[in-house]
Amino acid sequence: MKFNAAIAGAIIAAGTFAATAVIAQQDPIAARKALMKLNNDHARTMTGMVRGTAPFDAKQVKAAFDQWADTASKFGALFPDGSQQGDTRAAPAIWTERAKFDAAIAKFGKDVADNSAKATGDLEGLKAAMSVVGQNCGSCHETFRVSR
Ligand code: HEC
Repeated sequence: MKFNAAIAGAIIAAGTFAATAVIAQQDPIAARKALMKLNNDHARTMTGMVRGTAPFDAKQVKAAFDQWADTASKFGALFPDGSQQGDTRAAPAIWTERAKFDAAIAKFGKDVADNSAKATGDLEGLKAAMSVVGQNCGSCHETFRVSR
């Protein structure tokens, strides 16, 4: 599992998405965590720009929004039966309230798509976009991720 997780991370980071599909089938837990880790790296970069500790960079903003869109399109398939167990913080509610979970993923995808043009335009646009997109992270985790 550790080995697979490392490979999944490396492959996703390299952007070789076709190969990811194979790994997703072999180890969906590692694949979904790798996507979330990328989500987090990008969120951190965006927060730096919003707070003014890093300069606004439209290219990096686009990379973040593209990766979040990619996560939203792939995430739902990475919770097959049986993947409740293992090295995972996925909450049981994902399997007992599947429609609600799918709706949370769809909302994340829609907010990302709706705000991507605004975010890449300028810093004010990014700030406005992040106040909408960023809420998805916490609200989904609240219900669908087990807290430590
Ligand atoms: C639709 C639900 C949903 C959304 C939206 C979502 N997450 Fe997650 N996230 C999860 C779930 C479920 C897990 C637990 C995955 C597991 O452990 O199998 C998780 C795990 C994580 C982890 C831990 C990964 C690891 O290596 O264990 C991080 C970090 C994270 N999310 C960051 C984010 C950020 C940042 C955003 C917003 C940009 C975000 N997430 C949006 C559901 C979501």
